[in-house]
Amino acid sequence: MSQPSTKFIPALGFNLLTPLYDLIMQLTMRELTFKRRLIEEMKIEKSRRVLDLGCGTATLTILIKRTYPEAEIIGLDIDPKILDIARSKVQKAGVDIKLDQGSALELPYPNNSFDRVVSSLVIHHLTHENKARTFREVFRVLKPGGELHAADFGKPQNVLMYLIARFFGLFEDTSDNIKGLLPKMFREAGFEEVEETARYATMFGTLSLYKARKPG
Ligand SMILES: C[S@@+](CC[C@H](N)C(=O)[O-])C[C@H]1O[C@@H](n2cnc3c(N)ncnc32)[C@H](O)[C@@H]1O
Repeated sequence: MSQPSTKFIPALGFNLLTPLYDLIMQLTMRELTFKRRLIEEMKIEKSRRVLDLGCGTATLTILIKRTYPEAEIIGLDIDPKILDIARSKVQKAGVDIKLDQGSALELPYPNNSFDRVVSSLVIHHLTHENKARTFREVFRVLKPGGELHAADFGKPQNVLMYLIARFFGLFEDTSDNIKGLLPKMFREAGFEEVEETARYATMFGTLSLYKARKPG
């Protein structure tokens, strides 16, 4: 198998825009609404281990820790610049969260080490091959019976979302999402009980929430 590339697409496409990420998310993506729903669906019990894959500025990571203070939460991102923002937010929030730098394509964790992996708006940053590779990595690090919870662009739910998706469909990395292929790709990585649990209309198209379980 080829070695994964260390190249990545920053949160808003360009490094210069990263400091504006939180503001843009709040204004365009109904951020708190979908992140609260994602957290509710994760149903984390005491002393469980959770990985926020592609944690970005750690908004979701901090919300998870505040909702489930007894769980161990780790955030991982490939971009050192966004992790600097995440670190200062975690410190300001006064919560105990470990932040790691690393790639979704080669997760720096042993097999069967997490009860939940959550990933918000990361999958559309990856090529088709890298999405498949990432799903296999998530499967590897989850414990048997563990769950992946993902929020990302999905199949358009109405005409307006379809028109927006046509525009974003021009970008290769988003096309698997808007063709509705993510559930199939989760199953191909070994997951079962794959479900699309919610859909939200946003300024950048339909955002879908997905849940998938590692057998065991
Ligand atoms: C749009 S941001 C989402 C951030 C955060 N999860 C959220 O919901 O606000 C996408 C994040 O994925 C990260 N990312 C992109 N490619 C990655 C990879 N191969 N491995 C780990 N993180 C990656 C980017 O650095 C960025 O922080």
